[in-house]
Amino acid sequence: MDRTPLVEMSGISVAFGPVQALASVDLRLHPGEVHALMGENGAGKSTLIKALTGVHTVDAGEIRVHGEPAAFGGPAAAQAAGISTVYQEVNLCPNLTVAENLLLGREPRRMGRIDWRGMRRRAVEVLGTLHLDLDPSSALGAHPIAMQQLVAIARAVEVDARVLVLDEPTSSLDADEVAELFRVIRRLRDSGVAILFVSHFIEQVFEISDRMTVLRNGRLVGEYRTAELSRMQLVSAMVGRELEVLERLDRAPAEPAADDQPAVLAASGLGRRGAVEPVDLAVRAGEVVGLAGLLGSGRTELARLLFGADHADSGEITVAGRSVRIRSPRAAIDAGIAFSSEDRKAEGVVGDLSVRANIVLAMQASRGWMRRIPRRRQYELARRWIELLDIRPADPDALLGNLSGGNQQKVLLARWLIMQPRLLILDEPTRGIDVGAKAQIQSLVAEQARQGTAVVFISAELDEVVRLSDRVLVLRDRRAVAELAGEDVAVDRVMELIATGGGTRA
Ligand SMILES: Nc1ncnc2c1ncn2[C@@H]1O[C@H](COP(=O)(O)OP(=O)(O)OP(=O)(O)O)[C@@H](O)[C@H]1O
Ligand SMILES: [Mg+2]
Repeated sequence: MDRTPLVEMSGISVAFGPVQALASVDLRLHPGEVHALMGENGAGKSTLIKALTGVHTVDAGEIRVHGEPAAFGGPAAAQAAGISTVYQEVNLCPNLTVAENLLLGREPRRMGRIDWRGMRRRAVEVLGTLHLDLDPSSALGAHPIAMQQLVAIARAVEVDARVLVLDEPTSSLDADEVAELFRVIRRLRDSGVAILFVSHFIEQVFEISDRMTVLRNGRLVGEYRTAELSRMQLVSAMVGRELEVLERLDRAPAEPAADDQPAVLAASGLGRRGAVEPVDLAVRAGEVVGLAGLLGSGRTELARLLFGADHADSGEITVAGRSVRIRSPRAAIDAGIAFSSEDRKAEGVVGDLSVRANIVLAMQASRGWMRRIPRRRQYELARRWIELLDIRPADPDALLGNLSGGNQQKVLLARWLIMQPRLLILDEPTRGIDVGAKAQIQSLVAEQARQGTAVVFISAELDEVVRLSDRVLVLRDRRAVAELAGEDVAVDRVMELIATGGGTRA
């Protein structure tokens, strides 16, 4: 490894009003290493990255690149100096094509005009290096978020990056896609690129990183060699205490619902061409049904049909035994169904509203905007859920857009929990959430079920699907291939079905 760091940040401090997001933090990146930046939600990881790329100006400290003092005016200037960043949320234009998104602002030109053929050719090349099988002329928004994320990464690699910063690049990827991404990361590392990697997936961090820097509450805890650190040591460094919460994850089984009770929701032959083939699914009160499958297997698509976000073109739904037509999310909400979407940016959070306004949003919408929830009640609800979910900062008036990604996710969850729905559909509710908070959210979901809510739980992390679910519907290639119950609800079994499809559906 080269002795001089490629990037050296020292004594970096950044404050947002009264919030000291970073206090005298150091970070050193060497060429040819994968460096993980670790910390709980709100620890300051994204802020440190934005300080590096000039999105935030620093109150104190120094940044050196190649040994020379550097202060970038923004991501474009940083990128010109070889520092490319892919942020936590996909920041591309969904209505432009894949090729345009890849090459936006640096389109190949011929005699002053955009060379569309050259652009297509270049796009195919770039996608090829990442083994992405995408039509460059398709609209970016037509692809799942995971794909969009990979396109964002491809865009970052396309320039001649010396430093590649990835802020939670894998939170929406499946195992295969992560493996693909890691192959690319290793290739870049071996060619001398320094990679700064942020992730809440402990196993991934141990797999890919050479060194780690751990932050806690805006302060540097330490820099470690991955090989010399145990998982428990890492987690303790992140949370600053031993993690008892991790050990009491085991879920007390819910009271089995009486079989003669009609299901809270039952779908038969529910499907939509091109999205998901007809599926039968029933969820009873107090029961958690997991949907497992790779990205694109139809799990999100099925959830969207249940919620009326997309229209089914076959099948029937009954709610508490009565046949209903769910033509819109509004109708679903009226029927007592709540849906927390995986795409928090497009469908979820409203960044320029307060935490309080975001928490009461769905409740207000379902009462109608003419019947305002009294302010006192709004604050009561917000304070209660801020405490229950440990949302930080614990300020109902904070602007949501200023919260860290994981804390935004918690606010979104609170929005649906206050509705006390009969059926709660959660699509990737713990994505981007740190280990401690993940455990909190999982026990919260279990608690909701214990109190009688029917839950549909979707996650790319099979561990948590299996831990929480009474039954698991396994989807593969847009088809339900099996429904597991009892002892069959096990990671190995689910994995095998995802891989092979197994036999026919039981
Ligand atoms: N623009 C902003 N205005 C005000 N406060 C901010 C702003 N950006 C970040 N913060 C605050 O700074 C702290 C650090 O946030 P940051 O986004 O860096 O956390 P993070 O480590 O990336 O967390 P996560 O894992 O949830 O993404 C948090 O308390 C956050 O609320
Ligand atoms: Mg962040």
